[in-house]
Amino acid sequence: MTSEVVSSASSEVDRAYSDHSLAELYDLLNPWGPSDEFYLGLTMSAASVLDVGCGTGALLRRARESGHHGRLCGLDPAAAMLDVGRARADIEWVQGDLASCSLPGRFDLVVMTGHAFQVLLTDDDIEAALAAMRSCLVPEGRVVFEIRNPLTRPWESWTPAHAVEAVTASGSTVRVEHQVAEPVEGDVVRFSETFTSSDWGTPKVSRTSLRFCGVERLAALLAAAGLDVVHQFGDWNSRPLTDDSPEIITIAAPAPITS
Ligand SMILES: C[S@@+](CC[C@H](N)C(=O)[O-])C[C@H]1O[C@@H](n2cnc3c(N)ncnc32)[C@H](O)[C@@H]1O
Repeated sequence: MTSEVVSSASSEVDRAYSDHSLAELYDLLNPWGPSDEFYLGLTMSAASVLDVGCGTGALLRRARESGHHGRLCGLDPAAAMLDVGRARADIEWVQGDLASCSLPGRFDLVVMTGHAFQVLLTDDDIEAALAAMRSCLVPEGRVVFEIRNPLTRPWESWTPAHAVEAVTASGSTVRVEHQVAEPVEGDVVRFSETFTSSDWGTPKVSRTSLRFCGVERLAALLAAAGLDVVHQFGDWNSRPLTDDSPEIITIAAPAPITS
């Protein structure tokens, strides 16, 4: 199952997602972990699932492999990332973003995983995305996503000293270094990712901006989009959210319509 829906956003995604050779390395550099297990449990319990910013679609592919028989739909503006997911033809892959395409039908669960929610940089972007996710839901549906907790300032360890390395199936070593580009003011962090590989002559650099929206601002944006917080967790073991928690994991539901 594929779709021809293509958004203008496809030309604006970071190089890490638009470059085919980098997209093909994504799953190696971002191996399956506790966050994926958390979302897999929710996905397996929902009859129909929309994964916004699905990337290579690892979650949906694992759900299908694990026996999910319902509707699985992955939406992402990056064609190169979706091309990895398309190895499985029994999932709907849609190129675009929430603003650019209207998907048929409604979903029991809409997720945004792998901190993809943090690509939404302005209040308007976030409110529009939340409202679009709400409009994709059945009345009893849920929206689930996470933001790294800004109070823990995780970007302070995004330095070359914390570079990540992985070995590809063909034996090449790939290295990724993060470097915050400028002093962080406000809640948007701008940084570069430099990918090096023995297979390439020159490194590939991807520049990214991510928003670290705080919990109070997020609450206001959820309410403005007509979503109620059902649960908020601070980590992938569903511990309560505190100032020290690494994550702000939000499960939200459509607010009742009041007349
Ligand atoms: C860090 S990756 C996460 C991928 C996947 N969700 C995961 O957990 O592995 C972020 C993804 O967000 C996508 N993205 C970028 N801008 C987006 C937007 N406006 N709406 C939806 N997804 C977007 C990128 O193309 C990329 O695939």
